[in-house]
Amino acid sequence: MKLNLLRPRRLRRTPLIRDMVRETSLSVKDLIYPIFVVPGEKIKEEIPSMPNCYHLSVDQAVLLAEKIFQLGIPAVEIFGLPEYKDETGSSAWNPSSPVQRAMKAIKEAVPDLVIVGDVCLCQYTSHGHCGQLCGQEVDNDATLPLLAKVALSQAESGADMIAPSDMMDGRVSVIRGALDKNGFQNVSVMSYSVKYASAYYGPFRDAADSAPHFGDRRGYQMDPANRREAMKEVELDMDEGADIIMVKPALAYLDIVRQVRDRIDRPVAVYNVSGEYAMVKAAAQKGWIDEKRIVMETLLSMKRAGADIIISYHSIDAARWIREEEGRL
Ligand code: PBG
Ligand code: ZN
Repeated sequence: MKLNLLRPRRLRRTPLIRDMVRETSLSVKDLIYPIFVVPGEKIKEEIPSMPNCYHLSVDQAVLLAEKIFQLGIPAVEIFGLPEYKDETGSSAWNPSSPVQRAMKAIKEAVPDLVIVGDVCLCQYTSHGHCGQLCGQEVDNDATLPLLAKVALSQAESGADMIAPSDMMDGRVSVIRGALDKNGFQNVSVMSYSVKYASAYYGPFRDAADSAPHFGDRRGYQMDPANRREAMKEVELDMDEGADIIMVKPALAYLDIVRQVRDRIDRPVAVYNVSGEYAMVKAAAQKGWIDEKRIVMETLLSMKRAGADIIISYHSIDAARWIREEEGRL
């Protein structure tokens, strides 16, 4: 063997040497935690397919938001189950729906915590699709003003960031326009720009009672086979004024995350979705994997792929583990 061989193992010898040459890191500040709010009071019910995630009434959501803030997690994203559903999903822009009430209450209790509002109609429509129907199809342009109403009512309730997840064409510019016209120039838009029609949303749809009652979402969400189309979606959302570009799901689409990161100069977010979470939790409960190591490795892979922001149901556990690790040093 050559004597002057360049030996990569020299830089793997001790924990501190490894610390010195580590290329990627995961910080508590990278994380967002999703919260599901429901009507009622003093409700905290575990979501069966998402262990340790809960349906929370507004009072309980506030307590959790306080805990999240104390852990150093900068943001929560709020999802809701409404009191009623109808054809257009009108409870989505009702100022007294759980989401809007939760935003107001959290803003009051922890004003510095960043509040992200998921904007979509599927939790609120009687048919479970993400927009207004025309026959059996979702009518793109009829849906846009409804989404703008949802965004506006969330901004009025204290949302700092609006995250449209519906995949209608042109929604970012319509939402941006509505926010600006009503004095919310400083509310940002984190667009679910690249959102695939994915089986990984299964547990979420149980949690949010948002599964479509007929058909599927392939008419508006993206085909998992497509990469060029992802770049087209990103470009359109950039033009329409999205401040942050999201790719969703995360783990099966890290190639897309890397390509988006290399192409644009705006922050990139990923959504580590419910199915990704459920798989890890199920295997961990069976004792088949080391949950902490799997979660940290998975979240790190998202950072390495180029994500700046990670929305994850693991955020609270991950924040604790990161802090423990830091305390050790
Ligand atoms: C609503 C929405 C979904 C998710 C976030 N917003 C579900 C869907 O599109 O069916 C998925 C989140 C997750 O699975 O964790 N459009
Ligand atoms: Zn939807």
